[in-house]
Amino acid sequence: MKKKLFSAIQPSGGVTIGHYIGILKKWFLVQKKYNCFYCIADLHSYTNNFKKKKKYILDILSIILALDIDYKKNIIFLQSHIYEHTQLYWLFNCCSYIGELKRMTQFKQKSKKNKFINCGLFTYPILMAADILLYNSNYVIIGQDQVQHLEFTCNIAKRINKLFSKKIFFLPNCIFSSCSKVMSLLNPKKKMSTSDINKFNVIYLLDNLDLVTTKINNSFTDSDVPAKIIFDMVKKPGISNLLNILSNISDISILDLENKFIGYSYKEFKKIVINKLINFLKLLQKRFFFFRKKEKFLKKILLEGKRKAKIEAKKNMFFIKKLFFDI
Ligand code: TRP
Repeated sequence: MKKKLFSAIQPSGGVTIGHYIGILKKWFLVQKKYNCFYCIADLHSYTNNFKKKKKYILDILSIILALDIDYKKNIIFLQSHIYEHTQLYWLFNCCSYIGELKRMTQFKQKSKKNKFINCGLFTYPILMAADILLYNSNYVIIGQDQVQHLEFTCNIAKRINKLFSKKIFFLPNCIFSSCSKVMSLLNPKKKMSTSDINKFNVIYLLDNLDLVTTKINNSFTDSDVPAKIIFDMVKKPGISNLLNILSNISDISILDLENKFIGYSYKEFKKIVINKLINFLKLLQKRFFFFRKKEKFLKKILLEGKRKAKIEAKKNMFFIKKLFFDI
């Protein structure tokens, strides 16, 4: 039997090269090895705004398909289609401490930025724990900013196992913990983020290709003379970020790239990054538009995902409910 893997992505508007490298590429890589639950976390995205999500959901689904993530072999589904997520979320609310949620770095950062701090933002990690534990997942794929939320998930699992003196939940393990964080182009000390007001910091998978060229050309490097194309996140964050992007889209190791680019100027290096990126995005966008036009087909995929995810969710929730409720 294949082990279960859960991962999710929010339909929060643009999908960036950071989402690709941090999450979606990994979805593609592991799809044969595990029994994968790939969730479009629309409920999580309401913590940001109440915009209608349909467009974003269908956009992200089309990107998933464009990346060759198999909708027949994997369970690709919408979080809000499976009510059990919110049911379990409630039970987990009652097993979580305000103090541990207050310590979440992402909450602290977001509550500094946002004027309106909604409760969803605060309890967000509990819903994430419910997503993962509902399917009793052995593995998860998460972005680096979600590590603390995964620790919280494990704590909830341990707490409930202890409460009922039974191994109800597995403790989920993270796969791919290596560096895959993509940084902002103009400020490579900061993570690339869709909430950035300066769009020149971010590369969207659906960006116009001329714009991508401008963005890479404008990206921050450093003033080393002669140019040194080596990976060093601390001393050379800009060059390291471009190397990381190039390595991920060309599937060449950073070490091999460093060797290849000995003696190159930053301008020549950027030209190659642009070339590879444009080729990658061109194909991806072509495939994206092919799927995006077929709304009926996309909705059918979500319904099929719902059917399959529901079977597992219902089965596990039935078991959990029996423990919590005696009626
Ligand atoms: N919170 C994640 C993000 O914003 C998305 C997410 C929701 C998730 N539930 C999850 C990721 C469960 C991994 C596992 O990126």
